[in-house]
Amino acid sequence: MNDYSIKKLLLGITGGIAAYKAAELVRLLVKQGIEVQVVMTEAATQFVTPLTFQALSGKPVYTDLWVSDSSKGMAHIDLSREADAILIAPASADFIAKLVHGAADDLLSTLCLARDCKLIVAPAMNQQMWNNPATQRNIKQLHHDSIAIFGPASGDQACGETGMGRMLEPEEIVAQLLAHTQPKLLAGKRILITAGPTIEAIDPVRAITNHSSGKMGYSIARAAIEMGAKVTLVSGPVALTAPSGTNLIPVISAADMLEAVESNIEGQDIFIAVAAVADYSPQQASMHKVKKSAAALTIELKLNQDILATIAARPDAPFCVGFAAESEHLLQHAEQKRQNKKLPLIAANIATEAMGKDASSLILLDDEGSHPLPQAPKLALARGLLQHIAAMLDHHPKKESS
Ligand code: CTP
Repeated sequence: MNDYSIKKLLLGITGGIAAYKAAELVRLLVKQGIEVQVVMTEAATQFVTPLTFQALSGKPVYTDLWVSDSSKGMAHIDLSREADAILIAPASADFIAKLVHGAADDLLSTLCLARDCKLIVAPAMNQQMWNNPATQRNIKQLHHDSIAIFGPASGDQACGETGMGRMLEPEEIVAQLLAHTQPKLLAGKRILITAGPTIEAIDPVRAITNHSSGKMGYSIARAAIEMGAKVTLVSGPVALTAPSGTNLIPVISAADMLEAVESNIEGQDIFIAVAAVADYSPQQASMHKVKKSAAALTIELKLNQDILATIAARPDAPFCVGFAAESEHLLQHAEQKRQNKKLPLIAANIATEAMGKDASSLILLDDEGSHPLPQAPKLALARGLLQHIAAMLDHHPKKESS
């Protein structure tokens, strides 16, 4: 069972060399738990046989308007009615032109015209064909008709030329499909997220830091944008690119992070503290490089202010969510943190199983008890966490300043 709004997808394959990539696309979609019904144009069958897609999707492949399975009644209506969305990948220049004009001279174009669901196209063509004013006019018209367009990408083409027009890689199409179809549970909400490590200077060349990669915080930022939120991401130094649309505020130290959070917290609906903030920093960073002089060196550390607890204590606090990365007594320590910091929700995990990894698991703790999110890629966990927050927000009155 997948947790996305697309359960049944009609995948239309049109004639182009990128049709071979559609085989991998079907495999990845099925792996996501999506039921895939393949419909091919006559030209597509010249590149890959329907049998390939039948084997991968586990369903008969439709190609013809006239000899469709009669058990389907009127196939051109039924097939599109059963689907939550239609994805055309690859979409040839010719098929795009047909969509623009509402042509219905084969099964796939007829299904598109008779649809009452979302239509998405992933163009694939020679760069000259893509750049042709006729294609560009057609693409504009598709945008105007609210048809989503994934890609194309730029790069080497099967014909030996280089340029814009390559179909997106199957992984990217699946990622965009899942992003595109996320329910907009956080539409209009403003979310501030802290992510990554902080770096506490000892002297100009040395510092205290930790192994946080920022992956969880950045995944939450991406998932929040997909769900319609406006995201501010206060991030320590990481090797990641912020999702497009994020208001990124890069910081270095815990003190910088506190300052950035405090000056951006007003008007936020949700604050999610994912950052691995250094609990301590050197009492006084040395202006000059500390010289080696003795067998041992003692650095006096001072406690950093707890950013999450500070924000949660405000009279106008947004809905505050903490993370608890523990090495033992997970639930006990996490619940203690939730109580101490007065949080409606905390996400707990085992530090060594999560830090730097692309996938992990979480246990969400709130007043109702514990809610496990089993092992999954961090983006899927982020979606699960945000769905939980959205549900809680429906019942959680925002604190008003008195
Ligand atoms: N946190 C914060 N500011 C700090 C320390 C922690 O905002 N100075 C936030 C983290 O982003 C996380 C939560 O508090 O959401 C828990 O952080 P963690 O370091 O696990 O807990 P601590 O309260 O610091 O407790 P300990 O280090 O003793 O486990």
